Amino acid sequence: MRLDVISIFPEYLAPLQLSLIGRAVRDGALDLAVHDLRDWTHDRHRTVDDTPYGGGAGMVMLAEPWAEALTEISDRAEEDAEAPADRPVLLVPSPAGIPFTQRMAEELAGREHLVIACGRYEGIDQRVVDWADERFEVRLVSIGDYVLNGGEVAALVMIEAVARLIPGIIGNPESLTEESHEDGLLEYPVYTKPAVWRGREVPEILLSGNHAAIDRWRRDQRLKRTAQVRPDLIAALGADALDPRDRAV
Ligand code: ADE
Repeated sequence: MRLDVISIFPEYLAPLQLSLIGRAVRDGALDLAVHDLRDWTHDRHRTVDDTPYGGGAGMVMLAEPWAEALTEISDRAEEDAEAPADRPVLLVPSPAGIPFTQRMAEELAGREHLVIACGRYEGIDQRVVDWADERFEVRLVSIGDYVLNGGEVAALVMIEAVARLIPGIIGNPESLTEESHEDGLLEYPVYTKPAVWRGREVPEILLSGNHAAIDRWRRDQRLKRTAQVRPDLIAALGADALDPRDRAV
């Protein structure tokens, strides 16, 4: 996968050099580039913002540096592509976007080229988003119902959620199968040694060696946990998601 991130604070994206994603970049499994939007400004002050039309607090990001950056990045990708490629996906983190979910992460993990435009201040001139539609599949995406200072942290969140789903990036692919949100339920609680810690025992069933019983216990725990903290997820399950034994929990 090719991944371009544009920001006025490229240093904010430094954590991408660490851990599994850093290794994937070094191994060539992920072709990641972080760009400074100011490289596409032409004035002495490298200006990227101005006051909003219609008045109001804060500043709005200028359209032109974004358009030049996005044009160059998509042209470069087209030149590098050996065969005609799909339109790249342009992700614009915004509290006004559609919710980012595990389903979206799965879908994005199958794409060839993602570009993330990290806005700051009150956001990017809307005309960029409308214009970019010609070259990109554009999506305004929110990582939750709260407001951040800019899109960088949201970009880190989305990159981590997507990159770990790309084959060859996560250490143990099996650990992807029983995770929270994979099938609409939260994950079960986990325990490791010692069997008794500060007087607290590991649930006996986990020491029994009875794998069918352990699987049933884990499924019950997932159902109970999800019903307690995320009843909305239980309500959203499809008709065939529960079996008769689940209904007893
Ligand atoms: N930028 C500011 N707040 C955001 C949020 N909640 N999600 C994505 N991008 C943002």
